[in-house]
Amino acid sequence: PLVSMTEMLKKANAEGYAVGQFNLNNLEFTQAILQAAEAEKSPVILGVSEGAARYMGGFFTVVKMVEGLLHDYKITVPVAIHLDHGSSYEKCVEAIDAGFTSVMIDASHGTFEDNVATTSKVVEYAHAKGVSVEAELGIVGGQEDDVVADGVIYADPQECVELVKRTGIDCLAPALGSVHGPYKGEPNLGFKEMEEIGKSTGVPLVLHGGTGIPTKDIQKAVSLGTAKINVNTENQIASAKTVREVLAAKPNEYDPRKYLGPARDAIKETVIGKMREFGSSNKA
Ligand code: G3H
Ligand code: ZN
Repeated sequence: PLVSMTEMLKKANAEGYAVGQFNLNNLEFTQAILQAAEAEKSPVILGVSEGAARYMGGFFTVVKMVEGLLHDYKITVPVAIHLDHGSSYEKCVEAIDAGFTSVMIDASHGTFEDNVATTSKVVEYAHAKGVSVEAELGIVGGQEDDVVADGVIYADPQECVELVKRTGIDCLAPALGSVHGPYKGEPNLGFKEMEEIGKSTGVPLVLHGGTGIPTKDIQKAVSLGTAKINVNTENQIASAKTVREVLAAKPNEYDPRKYLGPARDAIKETVIGKMREFGSSNKA
């Protein structure tokens, strides 16, 4: 069933695992992620960036596609449809009105006071409809769709406490050195800050840029309060690699089902691997 992230993430924190947010890019991604979640008996968060929603048609299209698959696949595990990196109050409202069960408001690029004000407004609108809210502090590096950063800014632990207190958000993404897209070398995550922020805010933490983070760092993050880990690039790489392989092996192939079907299987396998690594399998 479609639910918000609130209960999912509380349970994850309490039982010491993380729920994966896997980003949607098209129908096959959505199918693969839902199939993986059901096979693993894992809760799952479907992340939808504004760019990906635009590509697929719009927020309404995304919601109807997910609802259709939940029905046709007889999905029994908890599923959230989450706006990833919402750029404004208006975009969050639009997603919620279309049926999203969760939103992220990414107001971390302006001043702290603006972040508090915008995030509070989103929480007020969202909570009235039972929708969960994630906010961000600091800057995640790299690029994802419209979200571009030329540097990394670590979240300030004091500001994290204040943001949580003043806004009533359900979970917080403190940028602590993670990067969207592949890492250049080993990631260098701020675990000291993560521990402090996890303890002092009392809300589940979110780790963006999940692609390429070593298992030991994932485990450490989970032990310090991380309850949600976002993954996109790793599934995109698995999908693209398979399409290249199939088309290289069969240069005369033109039926999209013959190359997107195998790509879908590759995404499913990747997601299953992540769910096991994050510890969310058999937690639905
Ligand atoms: O918001 C989405 C994620 O943070 C995805 O990061 O593409 O590096 O896995 P990634
Ligand atoms: Zn992100």
